[in-house]
Amino acid sequence: MVVDNKATVTYVQLIKEDLVIIRIVPKDGPVPDFQAGQFLTLGLPNPLDGDKIVRRAYSIASHPENKEYIEFVIRWVRKPLPGRLTTQLFNVKEGDEILWLKPAGKALGISEELPNGEKDTRRIVCIGGGTGLAPFVSFAQHFHDTNDKREIVILHGASYVDELSYKDMLTGFEDESNAKGKDEWNFKYRAAISRPQEWFNRSWAGQIGRVETFLRPRDNGLSPLEELVGGKITQENTIFYVCGWQGTIDGVMDFLNPKGFVTQHDKREDGSFEVKYESYG
Ligand SMILES: Cc1cc2nc3c(=O)[nH]c(=O)nc-3n(C[C@H](O)[C@H](O)[C@H](O)COP(=O)(O)OP(=O)(O)OC[C@H]3O[C@@H](n4cnc5c(N)ncnc54)[C@H](O)[C@@H]3O)c2cc1C
Ligand SMILES: NC(=O)c1ccc[n+]([C@@H]2O[C@H](COP(=O)([O-])OP(=O)(O)OC[C@H]3O[C@@H](n4cnc5c(N)ncnc54)[C@H](OP(=O)(O)O)[C@@H]3O)[C@@H](O)[C@H]2O)c1
Repeated sequence: MVVDNKATVTYVQLIKEDLVIIRIVPKDGPVPDFQAGQFLTLGLPNPLDGDKIVRRAYSIASHPENKEYIEFVIRWVRKPLPGRLTTQLFNVKEGDEILWLKPAGKALGISEELPNGEKDTRRIVCIGGGTGLAPFVSFAQHFHDTNDKREIVILHGASYVDELSYKDMLTGFEDESNAKGKDEWNFKYRAAISRPQEWFNRSWAGQIGRVETFLRPRDNGLSPLEELVGGKITQENTIFYVCGWQGTIDGVMDFLNPKGFVTQHDKREDGSFEVKYESYG
């Protein structure tokens, strides 16, 4: 039988009508240990279904070193029918009780070691579509807090500029990287807006199109990602982590497959791979 833990909702930040940041604090113990990239299952009794508990997985956006709270960024699913849990989550207030199951998930675990036992020092490129950014917000804070010297690039794709949920934090990390120097903290963040023609996005001057367009080579043979990092992306120098719609994973692999990159799912006989992903249909 599933035993739900209890938590208190301590922070609700409505970014827009269908996008929210929520923090919870466990009631009966500390914030559990977890790995950056994992998800946790949230639950609430559904009054429309005899108070049966509806549980769903949510990527943890806070980092393992943060023992104050657990943070999530959640989309209200409205179509074709209002989602059972998200409709309830969008009515939750600070102080309310919520249920949770322990953190889980290995798909986006950070690679620390190559199959030959050597330390994995490859550049890390994280590609998040929409709320698929969440695990990489955890990555960024984790690498920052643990003083990890690897090069980290975070690419976020959203339909609208007001959905760039962690723009302030991630821009701050890049500013700090520029100020301290790459040997101390090597971090870059860029976003792509996929509906640039819409009036609301009229002030956008960055990358346009879906997030995978960062990998499309320009006339000079280099992709915007390669221009950003200042060199060719190869199997030897880069590992990718991707989270978002299956179409985003497929779009990324359309660029990476011809270069010989393989996913962990399809890893080579020697155990090597260059892409980890978690998709949501
Ligand atoms: C590993 C993992 C991590 C995740 N992380 C996040 C995250 O960080 N943030 C986030 O926002 N989401 C995340 N999700 C998605 C989340 O788990 C839920 O799937 C999502 O929030 C929808 O839940 P729901 O109960 O509101 O929708 P559901 O009620 O489960 O509905 C799902 C879909 O079915 C449709 N539907 C519902 N009832 C019917 C019906 N009777 N007939 C036809 N269609 C119907 C809905 O319109 C919707 O499109 C994650 C999922 C996974 C697997
Ligand atoms: N780990 C997980 O499994 C996980 C994590 C987070 C969220 N989720 C779930 O994912 C769902 C939607 O996420 P969201 O609302 O954050 O996404 P979204 O805002 O609808 O989309 C984010 C970006 O992905 C693009 N996109 C949409 N559909 C696509 C497709 N089929 N192929 C490629 N790109 C596509 C969008 O482009 P356009 O502007 O062109 O549409 C936009 O640029 C939510 O219901 C959430 O519950 C799952």
